[in-house]
This record gives sequence, structure tokens and C-alpha cells, in this order.
Amino acid sequence: MDVLVIEGGKPLSGSVRISGAKNAVLKLMAASLLTAEECVIRNVPRIKDVENMVNVLLGLGAQVIHDGDVISIRAGEDLSWEAPEDNAREMRASIQIMGPLLARFGRVRIAHPGGCAIGTRPVDLHVNSLRKMGADLRDEFGFITGSCTQLTGQDIYLDIPSVGATENIMMAATLAKGTTVIRNAAREPEVVEVQNFLNRMGAHVRGAGTDTIRIHGVDQLGGADHTVIPDRIEVGTYMVAAAMTRGELVLSPVIPDHLDMVMAKLRQAGVEIDVRGDHLRVRGPRVLRPLDIRTGPHPGFPTDMQPQFMAMLCLAHGTSVIVENVYSSRFQHVEELMPMGAQITVDGRLAVVRGPCRLTGTRVSATDLRAGAALVLAGLAAEGITELERVHHVDRGYEDLEIKLRGVGAAIIRKSVVSAEALV
Ligand code: EPZ
Repeated sequence: MDVLVIEGGKPLSGSVRISGAKNAVLKLMAASLLTAEECVIRNVPRIKDVENMVNVLLGLGAQVIHDGDVISIRAGEDLSWEAPEDNAREMRASIQIMGPLLARFGRVRIAHPGGCAIGTRPVDLHVNSLRKMGADLRDEFGFITGSCTQLTGQDIYLDIPSVGATENIMMAATLAKGTTVIRNAAREPEVVEVQNFLNRMGAHVRGAGTDTIRIHGVDQLGGADHTVIPDRIEVGTYMVAAAMTRGELVLSPVIPDHLDMVMAKLRQAGVEIDVRGDHLRVRGPRVLRPLDIRTGPHPGFPTDMQPQFMAMLCLAHGTSVIVENVYSSRFQHVEELMPMGAQITVDGRLAVVRGPCRLTGTRVSATDLRAGAALVLAGLAAEGITELERVHHVDRGYEDLEIKLRGVGAAIIRKSVVSAEALV
């Protein structure tokens, strides 16, 4: 069990290289199951969720070569359709193999996915949409099991613009008979990335990035060679790090359009941001201003940036209000920020953050991926030493976090703590 030890109070300064997008690459790996030909995915981040997805694909019998930031996948005709249970339960993205396995092999058996404990995360939109396309799916004993002869294109209206459900339906529909229309589709950049990858494989997908996506089924898909977009949430996290330490960072590569709302809110808080092509220069102000934040589907404020902004708003001169509209329980980081001196009141999906507060270092624990990131940021700004436990949550989604932060002046090290039982 690793612990990150941070000595706060040092303004960050320098350049950070941004890695490939976690929430895109995991789906492209799943989409590779749609063909027997080789798929090559580049700019793959070295994070635990990618390792897990590699193990899921290996468990299905796919050939996977993972060399640095390049992954080559070849899912042959003899593939199994039963996902390895342990790996599937490790992350939310494992649900994304359901559409491809049904579309290609007509069978699937997968354990309910795991992932961040940030509220109830049902998969009803995934299951019901695939049922409407002709899959006979049973959701029982913690597994989703099912089969189909041939998926058929359907007009599907999503009650919620679910990112994962949109992507699962897109992938399934590429080999379905006829045309599928997804209405109230998720509009996240990662959904557009899945469209681009599928079209490189020979699919006919149009409309990703809008609320209506049309997919014309084809008989077969081929391989693809694709470089993944930069991770917009990693960019946002480092922007907040600069904001909280009165530092100045240059981040690249970035796609500024993916960060419109985040940049607008940071500028509203007094953070200076210069955009130059695929580079961002971000400068933290002497005084941070309070904000009202309401998370929502893209292009609204991304829920995956809410914990990081909450940490920043502890330092703002005034009272901020945060409303978490996407998940039912994404305020676990509040319990950990309070002992550091944060002044936060939570009532359901609403949090009131009073500032400025004097953050002081102490021992805290990551409860999920972005909560862990928020606590690292708080440690960077706090007086004294912060020790962050359960770092494995953070390792799921950030490549070399402490190495990148040390590279721009943070006093942060990773301690490996061997538990007593591990010694017996
Ligand atoms: C993706 O999760 C991301 N994960 C999440 O990032 C992100 O927070 C989320 O999209 C929203 O942007 C990956 O891409 C691996 P949803 P996903 O389906 O697809 C409800 C991170 O920190 N819902 O858009 O699971 C659901 O409970 C992670 O990187 C249903 O009710 O998100 C939630 O309240 C955290 N039924 C809302 O929709 C369903 O069948 C949005 O979920 C599916 C979802």
C-alpha cells in the first residue's frame, strides 16, 4: 500500500506533458474486440485501469502487446465471451466490452463493473438499449449474461445522456443490421474519440459530439491505427494545481476546446490562462475568487473536476456553492478535507465551501480517483506535511503523478508501506 508524502507551500513552476485520455483509451481497447484484425492504439497512458483492461482482453483470449505507450490488440475468431470476473470488477469501463462481444460473437457474460464508489452506478441504460437491439440479456447473481443472433438497428432514446451507454450502443450498432439512432446521446469528447476510432475501422458513425448519433451497420470491421487524445481531466487537475500554489505551469499537448467550461470557471476565479495552439500557460493568482459550480453532462461543468475545484475553493476569498448533479454521492473528499482545515457544509447534492481557510497537512485517505487527486492538490497548498493513503485509487487514472509534480517543484515522494500481514 503506497503513501504519497507532500510538503506543501511550494509554488509550482515549469512544464508538464499531458498523457493520453483514460476515459477514451479504455473504450478504444474495448472497440478492438469488433474485429479480428490488428488494432494499434498510441499515446496510451501508463495507468492501472489500462493494465486492468489489458488483463480483461487477455482473459478473453485476445493477443495484446503492450510496449511503452503503444498497445496492439488482435481479437481472433476463437475469442471467449466470458470476461474475467476479478478484472471486470476493478473498473467501470469493463462494461464497455458488452456491446462489442454481442455484436461480434452474439454472446457475453460479464460481472457487474466496479470503479469509483461515487454513488449508485446502474447499467440499466446499457442493458435495456442492447435488449431493444435484440440481445437476450439476464442481469442476475451479479453477472450480466446474454446472447443474440443478429443485433438490429433501433431508434434509442437515453433517459440520461450516459457516456458509457452511448459508447456501448455505438459499438454494438456498427455490426447491427440496419441503422441505429441514439437520441439524448452523451456529447463528451471521449464519445467523439470512439466515433473516430470506429470509423477508422470501417464503421459508419456520424453525429458524435451532438445529442443525436447515427450508425449504419456494416458486415465487418477492419483494424485501425490511432493516437489517443490528451486527457482533459489531467489538464484540468494540473491547472488547479497551479491555481492553488500561486504557480505557473505550461501544459501540453492539450485540446483547448475540450476545456471551455473549466477554463471559463478558472478565469472567473482569477486564474490567468493563455492558450497557444496545443499549449496552455496557467498562472495562479495571489487571491482566488469564490465560484458557483454546477456539474452536468458535457458541455456543462465536468463532474470529474468537481473534487479538484472544491479543494481550490477552500482557498478562495468568499463562499462558494457546488451542486453535484451527475452522481448521487461524490462528496467523500469532504470528510478528508475537513481535518486539513476546510470549512465545508454538505446537504445532499449541495456543498457550501467557506473561504479562505488555512489548510494544514495531516494524514488523509483517497476514497476514489478524483477525490485522491483533490487531496494531493490540497497537500500541495497546505502548510506542513500531508500523507495520502490508498494511493492506488489515484494510480488508476493519473500517469506518474508524483513524478510530474516533482518535475515542476513539488516536494512529493511515494512511500511503499508493507502491511504487517504481508510480512507473515
Ligand atoms: C464515464 O462514466 C467516466 N468513466 C466517468 O469518469 C465520468 O464521471 C462519467 O462518464 C460522466 O462524465 C469512464 O469513462 C470510464 P455515465 P460512466 O454513464 O460512463 C447514471 C473518472 O473519474 N447511469 O455518463 O459510467 C450514472 O449512475 C470517472 O474518470 C444510469 O443511471 O458515466 C450517473 O449518475 C468517474 N444508468 C450518470 O448516469 C446507466 O445505465 C452518468 O453516468 C448508466 C449511467
